[in-house]
Parts: sequence; structure tokens; C-alpha cells
Amino acid sequence: MQERHIRRDIYFEEQAYTTVAYVIPFIFGSMEIRPGTSVLEIGCGEGGNLRPFLEAGCEVTGVDILAEKIKNAETFFRDHPKKDKLKLIAGDIYDVGGQFSEQFDLVYMRDVIEHIHDQERFLGFAGKFLKSGGKFFLGFQIVYFSVGNENIASQSDDQSTIRKNEQTVIGNFNRYLEDLRREKSYGPYAANLAEGITKHFTKLIETFPNANYTGMLGTARAILGKVQTPEIKNALSELIAKLESMQSKKADPV
Ligand SMILES: C[S@@+](CC[C@H](N)C(=O)[O-])C[C@H]1O[C@@H](n2cnc3c(N)ncnc32)[C@H](O)[C@@H]1O
Repeated sequence: MQERHIRRDIYFEEQAYTTVAYVIPFIFGSMEIRPGTSVLEIGCGEGGNLRPFLEAGCEVTGVDILAEKIKNAETFFRDHPKKDKLKLIAGDIYDVGGQFSEQFDLVYMRDVIEHIHDQERFLGFAGKFLKSGGKFFLGFQIVYFSVGNENIASQSDDQSTIRKNEQTVIGNFNRYLEDLRREKSYGPYAANLAEGITKHFTKLIETFPNANYTGMLGTARAILGKVQTPEIKNALSELIAKLESMQSKKADPV
């Protein structure tokens, strides 16, 4: 278990940071976030993802099934100057969601769809929370990404969006590599970052074998020269070898 899983304040700050750095720029591609935008996060945990929206002046609601997490969220936001724009609700979304009828500009879920029960009924149920023209942001882990993705891709009449999503996912992985510059801030857990490279980058490449990884290869080579942790160095070297072999196969397909 990593320290961030025990120290919920660290986890809270990480969620707030990644929402600002990755999620909001992505959402900006399809809608504006401005004062008064109404946002619901389903499965908000301690609420770190919600803080950037609150700070942007949004009307923010967070729901989580675990009362203990909502209690932590209340503590983290106790002295926040915009806390009057924040509503936190402890409960199962299927029980408390009945009150949200066409109410939100944005429904946000991150690493939650994997955990929701009765998934087949979920999107139909939660879609009703959106105002007309509202947006649903769904973030989930790459290991789950291929589930159904091939079907979506094969049935889509908008291949450019699928390709754009692919490049967004690869871009986020590149940011993970850039983040390895901060390996020291992970203390004794730095070696765990290597496991992330071996496991998830391999999965990424398997999921998108025909994508363009030139940028990733450049980043991986640059970061290899900077990192100190032996496990990370090994994992990066393996990644580089994999990407180089893919490139040479593309250049010479026979
Ligand atoms: C992996 S955590 C993700 C938390 C947060 N979204 C984040 O990005 O850190 C999944 C969260 O979904 C919540 N959850 C699972 N099923 C739920 C349900 N039916 N209704 C509301 N919350 C639920 C869990 O309690 C947990 O806090």
C-alpha cells in the first residue's frame, strides 16, 4: 500500500492536482467551466477532484456511498471560502440520485464506473441528471479501457474522435513519464512507479498497437537519463526497447 492510500490528505491534493492538470483541460475541449456551472461528481471519495471546480466558482455536488469518505471531505472543505457552493451527500447514487432531474451541466466520474453495481442500468439512470446539452465525463483505468472499446470503435462513424481519444490517452501516459522527474517525492514508494510502467504501458501498447509513439519514445529516453531509482531505470529501458522494436517493424513491415 502506498502512503497516499493511508494519508488521505495527500490523496486529496493529488486528486485536486490531476483534475487541474489533466481533466479540466480535457473537458474544456467540449464545454466551458465557468462560475455557476453545475457539477456533480458520482463517487467523489474525499472530494479532491471537486476542489478545482469549486475554486472556479462552480456549483458543486459530490456523492459517495461511503459515509466515512464524505466525513473526510467535510473536514477537508470545512474552512474553504467557497464551501457554501458545495453540497456533499453520503449515499448510494441509486438511492440519492432520484432528486437530480436534468440539473447538471457536467456529471463527472473518475475511477468509479468499475465499482458501480447494476452497471447495465447505470448510464440510463445517471444520464437523466444532465441538463439538455450537458456533458458526462467518464474516466477509468486503461486496464478497463479495452472493455467494449473495440465495439465502440468499429461502430463509430466518427473515427477522428476515436483517434483523438487515443492520442489523449497516450498524452496522459507521457505526462506520467514526465512525472518520474519527481521520483524523490515518492520516497520509499518510488520503486512502485516502475510497476506502473511495466504493467500499464504494456497494456496501452497492446490496446493501441498502431498508434504513434514517437513522442513517448523521445520522452522515455530523456527521462531515462534523469531518474535514479534502479527499478524505474529498468522499466524505462524495457519500454524504450519495446517502442524501438515497434518503430523498426513499422519502418520495415516484412
Ligand atoms: C476508486 S474510488 C474513486 C474516488 C474518486 N472519484 C477519485 O478519483 O479518487 C471509487 C469511489 O466510488 C464510490 N462508489 C462506489 N459505488 C458507489 C455508488 N453506488 N454510489 C456512490 N458512490 C459509489 C466508492 O465509495 C469510492 O469512493
